[in-house]
Amino acid sequence: MIVSEIVYNCPMAELQQKLDFAKIYAKDQIFKLKRMWQMSRNGKNAMNKDPAYNATNPSHFIPMIEKDRYIERVDSFDQMISATHKHFWDPNDKSYIDFDEPFDMENEYIVDPDVFCMELRVPAIADSLTEKQKIKLNNESFRWVLSQILHGEQGALSLSASLCHVLKDPGAQEYAANQTREEARHVTGFTNYIKARWGSPYPVGPTLGRILEQIVSSDVVYKKIVGMQMMIEGLAMGAFGMAHQDTNDPLLKTLLKFTMSDEAFHHKFGKIWADRTVPKLSESERYKVEDWSAMIFKDLLYNLVNPWEKKAIYQSVGLDHKFVTKHFMQEIDRDSVIREEMMESNNIFRVLCKTLLKANIITERTRKTYAEFVNMEELNAEDDEVAGIDIANEGLAQLEQINKGRKVA
Ligand SMILES: [Fe+2]
Ligand SMILES: [Fe+2]
Repeated sequence: MIVSEIVYNCPMAELQQKLDFAKIYAKDQIFKLKRMWQMSRNGKNAMNKDPAYNATNPSHFIPMIEKDRYIERVDSFDQMISATHKHFWDPNDKSYIDFDEPFDMENEYIVDPDVFCMELRVPAIADSLTEKQKIKLNNESFRWVLSQILHGEQGALSLSASLCHVLKDPGAQEYAANQTREEARHVTGFTNYIKARWGSPYPVGPTLGRILEQIVSSDVVYKKIVGMQMMIEGLAMGAFGMAHQDTNDPLLKTLLKFTMSDEAFHHKFGKIWADRTVPKLSESERYKVEDWSAMIFKDLLYNLVNPWEKKAIYQSVGLDHKFVTKHFMQEIDRDSVIREEMMESNNIFRVLCKTLLKANIITERTRKTYAEFVNMEELNAEDDEVAGIDIANEGLAQLEQINKGRKVA
């Protein structure tokens, strides 16, 4: 008799086998109970009015492997999913974008200082700097802006990954997976650019960091979609459009153009949600969405760029941040500057207002929060297109051409 047979036939081994079986049986029963519990909580995410946006609890995976969910799939996002191949680009491939393209950082303004360096509008500050220092202050300020954009891109990447984790509809989930991939290339693209021009990014500002944390870690689908897909994506499209128009660096123009070609689709996903959800919300649900959006808007408007968040930048040109803050506050009336800048069609806050207005998230109740800064009638009369769509379309056409000429491996 061979050794394994002896072991198998001995009474101890038989007992062990029974114990192992009992353990597996017990684990299976626990799984069945878990499944019943998770299925009973399934789809209970707040304010889902359309099956396309049904979502499971982020810590409940079992509803995602229920057989019936694979069969029903909305086709609303299929065109956006298919289009991804046409506007594909790779930030590490020089046939799309070459981060070795030089730019004279010491002697050239990377962006228009009138738009991106308000400090230079203050005579006491501007007069205390040489031309080279002014260029440095402007370019470092823009490094700060781009660093915030990079952190925003990471927020969008983490948020779309979290949507991919919870959306029940396979079409919506595939869309979210696709967006996650696109956001990942934006993180790579902006990292490459910041590395090429400055070496490293600045830390996230407390306002943006706090808002991103709040949106990304929320379990509530409407906060994720309104907060990121509509507000932050809309704001990013405005910022990209503004930088594209006002930069002297052709490399940045290309990076922004390709990024915008992707972002226009992301914004659309949020818009489809709003069109299908907002009209079906109950009064109390609508109030919640309106109030939450107005709160995020005000938070961003008043705190996104504050002189005290840019201490390290002022130090880099030998300016004391207390001196800058004092003169900045004396010379610049924040509310009137906001009002004046919001007249520009691609101003980020104007774009944000327009997005919320067109999605019917601004109503008579909350209108005054926005009307303080922008003419709502004028905004209402404008078309429904997201800011920067012309640049996005230009990028799309260019990428389609590059991709046509490439062989699939
Ligand atoms: Fe992005
Ligand atoms: Fe995006």
